[in-house]
Amino acid sequence: MGFVINKKPIQVEKGDGPYLYDENGEEYLDFGASYAVTVTGHNHPQVVEAVKDQLDELIYVQSSYPNSVRKSFEEELVSAAPEGLSNVWLSNSGSEANEAALKFARSATTGSKIVAAKRGFHGRTAGSLSATWKKKYREPFEPLLDAEFVRYNDIEELEAVVDEDTAAVILEPIQGEGGLHPATREYLQTAREITEENDAVLVLDEIQTGLGRTGEMWRCESVEVTPDIITVAKGLAGGFPLGATICRDWIAENAGPHGSTFSGSPAVTAAGRATLSVIEDEGLVENASEVGSYMMSRLEELENRHSFIRDVRGEGLMVGVELRRDANKVLKNLALEHGVLALPTGRTVLRLLPPLTIEEGHVDKFVEALEKVIEDYE
Ligand SMILES: Cc1ncc(COP(=O)(O)O)c(C=O)c1O
Repeated sequence: MGFVINKKPIQVEKGDGPYLYDENGEEYLDFGASYAVTVTGHNHPQVVEAVKDQLDELIYVQSSYPNSVRKSFEEELVSAAPEGLSNVWLSNSGSEANEAALKFARSATTGSKIVAAKRGFHGRTAGSLSATWKKKYREPFEPLLDAEFVRYNDIEELEAVVDEDTAAVILEPIQGEGGLHPATREYLQTAREITEENDAVLVLDEIQTGLGRTGEMWRCESVEVTPDIITVAKGLAGGFPLGATICRDWIAENAGPHGSTFSGSPAVTAAGRATLSVIEDEGLVENASEVGSYMMSRLEELENRHSFIRDVRGEGLMVGVELRRDANKVLKNLALEHGVLALPTGRTVLRLLPPLTIEEGHVDKFVEALEKVIEDYE
């Protein structure tokens, strides 16, 4: 959503925890977290300090030179990852993390086909774009990689499409950009079984769902599925660009040559290390679960009171509020009249992805503002 008042763009100049501030010092409660990036809130002091300290030592060094900050970040990421996923490739974005995952699936299997879900979003580089559903993003650049799209949560269709020529099945455990739709446990478990049967790679894109957002460190844990590859990015370095492709041994052993000049720089991995510490030290996974349940119950109360809300769905602090219409207008009113920010997905869904540091009081402020805005639409 453009951030515009009377045709004048608002400059966002400062951030602190769940708040952003414009050039006039106006405060905005940020329930979009810039597309789920500011997991630890804006400018978390521990992240800021870690980066400042690292800047005095070494900003960047080529990734083939060992470096203790990068190494310890990778070790901490592996220890936070589901068991069995112990090899890490670092990159600079979610798209790149998925690009690596799809390349590795090709090099580790004899298959070539990529199976992805309708409404899925995996990024905008050529490979990750091939697995992204929306025609608007894909069509101008076709032909891309050979990808087949299946209906999300349709087990029979997945079983019919995955075969010996499949290199990878790539899925978001909860579709974010596609409208906040969770995959069922049964669907993801079937995806696990049929990829194994066909020697294909199961990639779970946890770029939005990972790092505690859904009330577990990884969404795949709550459905008891361990994929062959998890991809993660967004808030991994508290706002600095960092992506990771985390793989099982058999993938790593058969991964073709891959690399990226800026991957894993000491300055960025120092931010990543601090971010993982904050998630652990401040109990942000538990907080996402508790405050997420509170937010869900407050939004459900609102849904009961207002027929303008069609549905409330999601997990933890990844929640969609489906309206009858006009998501963008509602968001604009929330921002301009109440100083509250969130994101749209499609024309009718508000996407709430607040920092994992928020408290119940922030939820109250958001819900009260939303109620005032939607009253005007009824
Ligand atoms: C699930 C998912 N995968 C991949 C991406 C792409 O990440 P990036 O924009 O960092 O390339 C996104 C970004 O929104 C995402 O939500």
